[in-house]
Amino acid sequence: QQLDMELAQIEKGGFDHFMLKEIFDQPASLTDCLRGRLDVSNLTLTLAGVDQHLSVFTQAKRIIMVACGTSWHAGLIAEYMIETICRIPVEVEYASEFRYRDPIIHPGDVIIAISQSGETADTLVAIERAKEQGAFIFGVVNAVGSSIARLSHAGAYTHAGPEIGVASTKAFTAQLTVLAMMALKIGKAKQSISEEAYKHYLTELSQIPEKVQVILSGHESIREVAQVYAEANNFLFLGRGYNFPVALEAALKLKEVSYIPCSGYPSGEVKHGPIALVDETLPTMFIATKDKYYDKIVSNIQEIKARKGKVIAIVNPDDSAIRGVSDHVMEVPETDELLAPLLTVIPTQLMSYYIGVLRGLDVDKPRNLAKSVTVE
Ligand code: G6P
Repeated sequence: QQLDMELAQIEKGGFDHFMLKEIFDQPASLTDCLRGRLDVSNLTLTLAGVDQHLSVFTQAKRIIMVACGTSWHAGLIAEYMIETICRIPVEVEYASEFRYRDPIIHPGDVIIAISQSGETADTLVAIERAKEQGAFIFGVVNAVGSSIARLSHAGAYTHAGPEIGVASTKAFTAQLTVLAMMALKIGKAKQSISEEAYKHYLTELSQIPEKVQVILSGHESIREVAQVYAEANNFLFLGRGYNFPVALEAALKLKEVSYIPCSGYPSGEVKHGPIALVDETLPTMFIATKDKYYDKIVSNIQEIKARKGKVIAIVNPDDSAIRGVSDHVMEVPETDELLAPLLTVIPTQLMSYYIGVLRGLDVDKPRNLAKSVTVE
C-alpha cells in the first residue's frame, strides 16, 4: 500500500491532486493535440479521419453530436463553430435521450460521438442505433482503441493523455481543439469561409497553448477569489454565444467537485427565472470576454448588481466597462470569439478545484460519480 501511495504521488507529478495536474497539463496536452495537424506556416490542417472522408462532411445535410456530461458541452460549442464556419445545420443530443427517442436519421447524416473514455454506455448504444440506420459515425475520443473509437467509421483522437480526475478538464479543451480543426478543415473544403478567415483562425488556434499558460500563471489570484466564495450555498454561471456552453460547463464542474448547487444559463435568459435567486448571498460568474455580445453582457451584469448580487467576471485584459461593475475579475488573453471557450473555461476549472479543496472534499473522486459510466 505504501508503494501504491508513492506511485500515485509520482503520477501526480508534484501536484496535490490529479485534477490540478490535469488543469496544468493543458498547454502541453493542447500542443500534443495540435502536433502534426496544424501547420500555420503552410496553412494546412491534417486530420486523417476527416481527410479520408472529406466528401461525407462537405455533402452532409446535417451533423448530429451525441455525448454526455462535459463532452456534451464540447458538442454545444462545436455546434456554433460548425454552423458558423461550415454552414451545415448541427444538432446536439444527450446520448441518453437520443438512444431511446427514435430519432429521425437519414443516410448521409453525420453523427459525431464525443467521448473522453470512449466507453460511455449511452453514447455507445446511441451510435450503434444510428449506424444501423445508415448514418456515418465519426468519433472524437481520447482513449485510444476504446469501444466508441472501434465502432466509429472514422475519427480523430484528442491526444490529451490519460485523464484520471473524475471531473473532466484537459479532455474537454482537447475535444474543442479537435472540433475546431474539423470545422476549419470542412469549411475550407466547402469554401464556406474566406481564405483570410481561415488563416486568421489557424493563427489564433496555434497561439492557444501559450495563452492557456498565461492564465495558469495567474492561478494565485483565482485561488483568492475561490477563498471568498468557498462557503457559498448556490452559484450562477452566465455567458452568451460561444461562452454560453462554458457557463454550463463551469456550473457542472463546480457542482461535481464542491457539491454546491449551481446553474448555468445564457445571460439573456436570466430574466426568465434565475434572477429570482439573486440576493447579496448569491455569487454570479459572468463569462464576458470581448465579442459581439459584450454590451449586452454589461447590462446583464448591471441587472445582477442592482439586486445586490456578487459578480465575478472573466474578462480580457483591456476591459474596463465590466471591471468597473464587478466585484472580482479573472483575466484571459484575447482571441477570436470562436476559440474563446478554450481560454475562458480555464479560470472556471481552477476556481472549482480550489473551492472543492477548500471545502475539504475529494476533488479527484467526488461522491457518487464515476470516471466512465459503462452502465445505463
Ligand atoms: C462521466 C464523467 C464526466 C464525463 C461523462 C462523459 O459522467 O464523470 O466527467 O464528462 O461521464 O464521459 P465520456 O468519457 O463519454 O466523455
